[in-house]
Amino acid sequence: MDKIMVEKSPPLKGKVRINGAKNSALPILAASLLGTEDIILEDVPKLKDVEIICEVLASLGAKVEFLDEGVIKINSADINKYQTPYDLMSKMRASFLVMGPLLTRIGKTKTSLPGGCAIGTRPIDLHLKGFRALGATIDVDHGNIGAYAEKLVGDRIYLDFPSVGATENIMMAAVMAEGETIIDNAAMEPEIVDLANFLNKLGADVKGAGTSSIKIKGVKKLGGATHSIIPDRIEAGTFMVAAAITKGDILIENVITSHIKPVIAKLREIGCEVYENEDKVRVIGPKKLKATDIKTLPYPGFPTDMQSQFMALMCVSEGTSVVIETVFENRFMHVDELKRMGADIKIDGRSAIIQGVDSLMAAPVKATDLRAGAALVLAGLVSDGITEIRDIYHIDRGYDRIEDKFIKLGAKIYRV
Ligand code: UD1
Repeated sequence: MDKIMVEKSPPLKGKVRINGAKNSALPILAASLLGTEDIILEDVPKLKDVEIICEVLASLGAKVEFLDEGVIKINSADINKYQTPYDLMSKMRASFLVMGPLLTRIGKTKTSLPGGCAIGTRPIDLHLKGFRALGATIDVDHGNIGAYAEKLVGDRIYLDFPSVGATENIMMAAVMAEGETIIDNAAMEPEIVDLANFLNKLGADVKGAGTSSIKIKGVKKLGGATHSIIPDRIEAGTFMVAAAITKGDILIENVITSHIKPVIAKLREIGCEVYENEDKVRVIGPKKLKATDIKTLPYPGFPTDMQSQFMALMCVSEGTSVVIETVFENRFMHVDELKRMGADIKIDGRSAIIQGVDSLMAAPVKATDLRAGAALVLAGLVSDGITEIRDIYHIDRGYDRIEDKFIKLGAKIYRV
């Protein structure tokens, strides 16, 4: 089992280029099952999760070719299976996103209940509510879910919570349903807009993505397209926090700054200087970090995927900070690990109260989920001694060899 070792590092300095977004690449790869001609995707991040979804596509009969760095060619003309293998589904929750495309393309789909980061119960009731509204019959037995429909017909669907995955899955199912579908209280994340843009390039008619009401007019058939994945706002945010926590100076390239407004605002409150310039953002950490409060919310609120990294920062910020997690009910697993490193954190339901300490100390810790792992890397950069991070397969799901980019910025970090 690989481990990542992090030593106390000097202020991180230099430039870093951000990859394409994992959370855009995964639904867009799933949506590639919808088209019958060649699809070329560019700026696809090289991640374990991307590998898994490509295996899922191949298992269904799609041809998947890895061309140059970050470029994948997919041809789904000959999809011949509707059942996805358990071992792949259990590794990653996002593999569930093939359900919507399969349902609309071939009228049936069967899969096991999804796996992924253990950050809450993460039900799929809203995905299924959408499929049912479009006319699908759902059956759930022995951990498998099947969805079947002779024909899908558009409807008006209200999401009780603006779930990212449910919005994507329903949008993909609706693109070839008969008539019009409206998704109300839809998620507004930039990754939803990227998916809608991709679907429209294939020939779909999706309007309103990025607002809370998405309107989809069904078409008969979808073709091919070339599409570049948008930059990963969470990877960008992680390096912004790295500049702050190490009191460094990092220029982050390939970002869409409007996607990271809450992260920029909070870093400024903490005392950082942040300069935005087209597709770049420069973050200079202050001599003294100040406490602040965050409340995670669906986009455009503060992203839950940046919560643990900010908590690492708050651990060494002067004063008392409060984090309220409203998106997932169990996303504080990193707290116990940070406490092992000397952090002063108390949990009260969905709130964490963090009392800043002067310094952290290295300890053997575990990446309990993807972003929790990133938080431990950040904490390790400012801890006395050598922090040993285990279970780093979680980190590899979302960051392409995280240590490489950190080393270029001057961090003392290595994989063993
Ligand atoms: C996506 C992201 C993940 C991010 C999350 C929230 C991908 C591949 N993953 O996950 O990184 O942390 O959005 O921004 O894009 N819920 C229900 N019923 C459902 C579906 C969801 O109650 O049918 C609840 C979940 O339990 C959770 C909340 O809605 O509490 C948010 O989940 P959702 O937005 O669906 O997250 P994911 O799409 O799984």
